[in-house]
Amino acid sequence: AVRLRVREALGAREPAGEVKVQGWVRSVRSQKEVLFLHINDGSCLENLQVVADPSLENRDLTFGSAVEVQGKLVKSPHRMQNMELKAETIRVVGPCDTWSFPLKLKKRHPLEYVRQFPHLRCRSNTLGSLLRIRSEATAAIHSFFQENGYVHIHTPIITSNDCEGAGELFQIETSNEAKESAEKTHFFNVPAFLTVSGQLHLEVMAGAFTHVFTFGPTFRAENSQSRRHLAEFYMVEAELSFTESLQDIMQVMEDLFKTATNTVLSKCPRDVELFHKYIAPAQKPENFLVIPFIVILKTFFFSCRISYNEAVEILKQASQTFTFKPEWGCDLQTEHEKYLVKHCGEVPVFVINYPYDLKPFYMRDNEDGPQHTVAAVDLLVPGIGELCGGSLREERLPFLESRLQRLGLADAYQWYLDLRKFGSVPHGGFGMGFERYLQYILGVDNIKDVIPFPRFSHSCLL
Ligand code: 4AD
Ligand code: MG
Repeated sequence: AVRLRVREALGAREPAGEVKVQGWVRSVRSQKEVLFLHINDGSCLENLQVVADPSLENRDLTFGSAVEVQGKLVKSPHRMQNMELKAETIRVVGPCDTWSFPLKLKKRHPLEYVRQFPHLRCRSNTLGSLLRIRSEATAAIHSFFQENGYVHIHTPIITSNDCEGAGELFQIETSNEAKESAEKTHFFNVPAFLTVSGQLHLEVMAGAFTHVFTFGPTFRAENSQSRRHLAEFYMVEAELSFTESLQDIMQVMEDLFKTATNTVLSKCPRDVELFHKYIAPAQKPENFLVIPFIVILKTFFFSCRISYNEAVEILKQASQTFTFKPEWGCDLQTEHEKYLVKHCGEVPVFVINYPYDLKPFYMRDNEDGPQHTVAAVDLLVPGIGELCGGSLREERLPFLESRLQRLGLADAYQWYLDLRKFGSVPHGGFGMGFERYLQYILGVDNIKDVIPFPRFSHSCLL
């Protein structure tokens, strides 16, 4: 017998003789004359209907059990499906105790409920769809860069630098070091951390390749109880050499977003539809995703571009009162980001040219006053806030050297200063939070529902 995936069986043009389908039972319905099964194997959202003689029914053939069905693929008389499997044999490979199995037959389990079962929730429709979308989006992002001539770089996960300078680092030590905390010896001779960003390593590569990108795990020791922060998340980062304007960086952000999203929509329309039908509207009726997303994308403008100065003025003139009073020189809070997005008509908004003192050491001085603003850009999106952050990098040795000296970092970043001594070019790049991207396109409220294993980001590990 030829082994078929459910997706292949459902999409078959012609009936087929001996075929074999393996998967998990999503429903069992036993009637006098026929036994109906629905089988899912993760290849698509839809189940394959199996029709069998009631004599094939057995005690272990229950919701959740793993089965192997052999039979003939025939045209289905049902309007809703193309093909069905007429079973000749049904073998229960792994039974399932439906009483203690946390997922229940024909129940739409809320995301909060299935989050309690990180080891079983991938068998629910919603997480199944999410994980297929996540997989397609990953491939789409890689293709976007590859097709545009970028070289993919595996940047290190263990590093000694704090790229963002925010001190939100997880330090790593061997289990022996942890025990003998009095002795200050390090496995790597220097303190080592889980990376917060691959940017500095990408900048090294941007000294040899004009376009590079990385897409890997990043770690931040910041509040992971929020609905948009994780301790472990994936970041897409790109770095472009011979780039003198923020405009070029914004264009790549926009192209990446549109291309990846269009690919996801065309590769898994049913999976995306599940989110827009059942997840997004219920949680956020005001969310723009309620309108069919395809229509939105066609008219998708990333037209709103404002400077930080303008943003502060808009916030100051707002009739709304904020918990954090908007003031030039202060970071934009979530409430501010929300207001700005609303002010611009619930569309993505680029905010550029932030105060010098708010941003990390690597950002390029705009020279619009003594250390006044830097060429930074954040992309804010409805419902989420910051989706991407990027900048032009300070490529001029004297500027960078004096800034690092003032921060007491000149020694540690000697190698980074070297890059400005040997063939330095204007360059810039950005990072996009992959989970926030998924949250945005699917309208998912809690970031823990767009990762494969929710508890890896909690104190309680799986
Ligand atoms: O704005 P961030 O901190 O920028 C950087 O790390 C730059 N070095 C990137 C670069 O220019 N190459 O982080 C980039 C994005 C944010 O805009 C946000 O979407 C996401 O990463 N992000 C998080 N996502 C989930 N959980 C967290 N704790 C996150 N912190 C940042
Ligand atoms: Mg940022």
